[in-house]
Amino acid sequence: MTQRVFPENFIWGTATAAYQVEGGVAADGRTPSIWDTFCAGAGNILDGSNGDVACDQYHRYPQDVQLMKELGTNAYRFSIAWPRIQPSADGVVNQKGIDYYSRLVDELLQAGISPVVTLYHWDLPQYLQDLGGWPNRDVAYRFAEYAQVMVRALGDRVHTWSTLNEPWCVAYLGYAEGSHAPGLHDHPASLRAAHHLNLAHGLGIQAIRSVLPDARTSVTLNLQALYPASETEADRGAVAQLQRVANDIWLLPILEGRYDPQLFADTAHVTDWSFVKDQDLAEVKQPLSVLGVNYYSTTTVRRNLRAQLPSFEQAAKSDWVGAWPGAETIEFLPPVGPLTEMGWNQNPAALTELLLAVHNRYPALELMITENGSAFADEVGPDYQVHDPKRVAYLAAHIEAIGQAIDAGVPLTGYFAWSLLDNFEWAFGYGKRFGLFFTDYQTQERIWKDSARWYQQLAKANRVPSGV
Ligand code: FCB
Repeated sequence: MTQRVFPENFIWGTATAAYQVEGGVAADGRTPSIWDTFCAGAGNILDGSNGDVACDQYHRYPQDVQLMKELGTNAYRFSIAWPRIQPSADGVVNQKGIDYYSRLVDELLQAGISPVVTLYHWDLPQYLQDLGGWPNRDVAYRFAEYAQVMVRALGDRVHTWSTLNEPWCVAYLGYAEGSHAPGLHDHPASLRAAHHLNLAHGLGIQAIRSVLPDARTSVTLNLQALYPASETEADRGAVAQLQRVANDIWLLPILEGRYDPQLFADTAHVTDWSFVKDQDLAEVKQPLSVLGVNYYSTTTVRRNLRAQLPSFEQAAKSDWVGAWPGAETIEFLPPVGPLTEMGWNQNPAALTELLLAVHNRYPALELMITENGSAFADEVGPDYQVHDPKRVAYLAAHIEAIGQAIDAGVPLTGYFAWSLLDNFEWAFGYGKRFGLFFTDYQTQERIWKDSARWYQQLAKANRVPSGV
């Protein structure tokens, strides 16, 4: 088999998020985010840890940029910690916070690496949660102010400006299922949050373009790859329902300026949607240069027709169905192995299908994979090597899958491996390792895994290495 070659100028990057790697939570005037608060709550984080130190990238970014340079990647997707920029409720800008990102961006540019910036990767300033968080409409306006501050500061040194990372997780894991900060079990609030995240995106893009009219604008969605347990109408209907609440709830407002009336019908017992004001959808739909897609695994569901169905209040407290407002009659099937350390299944073909489905709906839209990767129980061997053949196989299969999507005509321009290095994996703490580099949390050493060497060959040659 010939080795797959990627289009010229293809972006090979790595991705991280501020709270997962930075540490330095009290440095230079940063104040707590909802994740600092959530981590302090008993039982919220599997290993009882927090992001106080994480990978200490706040202090070690020059070394990390050097690693990226050696790795041969040409882009780095990172996020900005809002509480570093506006640490207090009055919104006054903290120059020291800005300076950090300015230094990071310059370091990257010097190394020939394009900065791809996410403005919001989940670390809401705690003072905004004290006002109600995303269910409070004002937060969307505060987000736009913050976005404008950042674009004024970093401007065209940034390759791509992305508003939000995975609003699905923000709204549903944060406000419905409660496994993420702020840890609430409130389905009505989660849908309000969803709408206000859309509004924040639209207002954010307007704020970015008011400073930088030609900015490359983006948002990152973890589009769910949903499959029915059977081909019955009931099971296909379950998939269609989840498609509306998981994917279309973002895609339609952001790209088409509308919500699906059927989404309102599906969730009428949860909320009346009166928080959607006239004009909101016109605010939400703004020019988008590229859609970021995060992909890890798939979900298989069936319609539960049993008599005893949970109410949405009950569902909110039970298992994963709690993360899906209005989906009380849907059952989630256990994933089929081999699973990753997260308990997620591996299905590269579904990534090709997902990209084709998005492309068929929005043929002119440029796409990037802004996250893809896998956690495995990596260990440093006696030879000081980290052999992670399962991660290499996962990467190879998923990169082949995006190659097939490109062959089929999808305008996919980049791929970001999650993650540059092992880091704080939210509610799972430090036990789940997603990095290309192994992080020794005792010494803060970064150790090359085999997957990093494999990715290095790929990124440097722009073709898939042989031997996998
Ligand atoms: C995604 C998040 C990212 C990381 C990966 C494993 O949902 O965006 O921060 O935790 O999952």
